[in-house]
Amino acid sequence: MEDRVFNNLPGTRDLLPEEIACWHLAEDRARRVFDQYGYLEIRTPIIEPTELFARGIGGDTDIVGKEMYTFEDQSSRSVTLRPEATASVVRAFVQNAMYRGGGVRKLYYIGPMFRHEKKQKGRWRQFYQIGAESLGSDHPAVDAEMIEMALWLLESLGIQARLLLNSIGCGQCRPRYLDILRLELQKYLPSLCEDCRRRSATNSLRVFDCKVESCQPLIEKLPVITDHLCSECNDHFARVKGYLHNAQIGYEIVPRLVRGLDYYVRTTFEIVSGDLGSQNALVGGGRYNGLSEILGGPPVQAIGFAMGLDRLVMVLPKEQGDAFQWKPELFLVFMGEPAFVRTLEIARSLRRRGHRCDLDFSGGSIKSQMRLANKFGAEHVLIIGEDELAQDRYSIKRLEDSKQWHVTLPELIEYLASHKKKEPGARSMTPE
Ligand code: HAM
Repeated sequence: MEDRVFNNLPGTRDLLPEEIACWHLAEDRARRVFDQYGYLEIRTPIIEPTELFARGIGGDTDIVGKEMYTFEDQSSRSVTLRPEATASVVRAFVQNAMYRGGGVRKLYYIGPMFRHEKKQKGRWRQFYQIGAESLGSDHPAVDAEMIEMALWLLESLGIQARLLLNSIGCGQCRPRYLDILRLELQKYLPSLCEDCRRRSATNSLRVFDCKVESCQPLIEKLPVITDHLCSECNDHFARVKGYLHNAQIGYEIVPRLVRGLDYYVRTTFEIVSGDLGSQNALVGGGRYNGLSEILGGPPVQAIGFAMGLDRLVMVLPKEQGDAFQWKPELFLVFMGEPAFVRTLEIARSLRRRGHRCDLDFSGGSIKSQMRLANKFGAEHVLIIGEDELAQDRYSIKRLEDSKQWHVTLPELIEYLASHKKKEPGARSMTPE
């Protein structure tokens, strides 16, 4: 027999039951907020044709150039584990003719993404995103609402964050700006890194993605797109800011925020948290009016964001997760075989009524069963012994204050139902 123990791949991890409560809380809250704003879930495959991302995200981006998990499948087709989901959502939107009938389609997704990045705090190779995409409108109020929705989700989870905002122009004004940028870049070429030198010729905006220390002072000196927007983009940006102002949402304009994906036009934004260290972006998003056409579809004006779930959980206040931790409302402690049979009946009956119940099948002493009840953080313990069985009345103990009394099964059912109603928001899906 092989004695090799397997470990997970670097940059991936197991999410164990002890830490999953925070994930459930964030996911449930996200579903609730999306529901409030009229977003419906879409699930696209995790694996897609490589060409979808190469064309959608852009060949000169770090994601496509360096980070994709790409391989040939058994039919010699090049396939890729999705590094993000916007391209997939737009592919599905076009493929399923979801634009038919007009109007706006509002979609959301929750799931894993894959990027072969350098490992560091807050960065995984398999990570999770919660994302939303609104397809079918260029109205600046949609941009503001998209940002508002992301911020509301974070706020409802007790997370403090800052909004960074920019506009990166459109097909009209950006080429003119890129000419100016390219000319300016010529001056610094010999001092820039190899990637920057290549990008200044092929896709100069991507120079702003450079992380090389020595390039940063030079990048700082480059002209910024916000000084070169056409009047339509300027007007759109001013209106986005106006709607944000109306919603009392503060922002910081960051003219070098171009985002690492080629599909963006006009509004781009990030929401960052000071508690995250260098990988501080919790949310990244923006408008991508041209992506549908790039992927062979009709013109569709769209905007969206994706939130890093792994990073979200890192900054989630601990008490939020604790309130969502699984714990039984009732732990059933029994003595002897006849009591065991009755215990199973009671547990079944309560579970069917929606209560969380558990018991220790191995039996053991009352002390050891009580120990398990405490370990699970049970709210109550029900004791079923020979006497209790004979009288069909059971001893119940509320562990919080050690109060103990006797109940019949109908009384127990009534008590648990009224107690559940009074639960202080634990496992509640409603953002307060
Ligand atoms: P992105 O900025 O590449 O945008 O990713 C969005 C968020 O995903 C980041 O802000 C971060 O929280 C999280 N994230 C990215 N890479 C990693 C990683 N290696 N480990 C952990 N978390 C990570 C997009 O993906 C776009 N599709 C967003 C979008 C949607 N734009 C329009 N619609």
